[in-house]
Amino acid sequence: GSGDCLRGKDVVITAGPTREALDPVRYLSNHSSGKMGFALAQAAQRAGARVTLIAGPVNLNTPTHVKRVDVVDAREMRDAAERAADLCDIFISAAAVADFRPASVAEQKLKKQEDQDESAIVLVKNPDIVAGIASRTERRPFTIGFAAETQQVEQYAQSKLQRKNLDMIIANDVSCAGSGFNSDHNAVTVIDRNGSHTLPSALKTDLAKQLIEIIAAKTQQ
Ligand code: C5P
Repeated sequence: GSGDCLRGKDVVITAGPTREALDPVRYLSNHSSGKMGFALAQAAQRAGARVTLIAGPVNLNTPTHVKRVDVVDAREMRDAAERAADLCDIFISAAAVADFRPASVAEQKLKKQEDQDESAIVLVKNPDIVAGIASRTERRPFTIGFAAETQQVEQYAQSKLQRKNLDMIIANDVSCAGSGFNSDHNAVTVIDRNGSHTLPSALKTDLAKQLIEIIAAKTQQ
């Protein structure tokens, strides 16, 4: 039954945003709430898995019996994910990792100059955490990514699946109001190498249960 479809499995999930420091008081980040990743962690735990949840800065309670590792920026999330992934069966990348970070972090608070009307920040690329794990040749878990898109959702998700060498990608259209970022609801399409399957809009907690059942079925084949 669904109550034990992940019994004995180790699952690692990343969730929430990352925060990339500019100076001691400022950072770049995004509006990710972490709700989808936390809901997946709870659903996986209830399905019998041992769950490690690697969380960026979010305001959410840790699901019961889930091991939570708090991180701030993308490189910390990468380090925690790589460590946890060494002994896991399933890796789910639900975090909204900042693609770029400031090239340098000022030691002191940046000051504006008098009469300064413009300012520029140089950014450098962050590591792609899920692509790093999916590219492993040893100790490679079943690897799942998310794709939040505003147009051509399935096509972009398909190419991400290929490019990052994922086993599955969960695509959602973040252009619809009341779905995706910061919402309690989400509508997703699950895509793997065999095809795609759309799940209608539902509470993230209900969607998480359905996704965990789909993932369990795929990893038991
Ligand atoms: O390329 P894009 O950011 O749209 O891909 C989204 C997927 O990649 C998500 O699963 C996200 O968690 C993951 N990702 C990552 N590390 C990054 C950027 C995205 O793991 N630096």
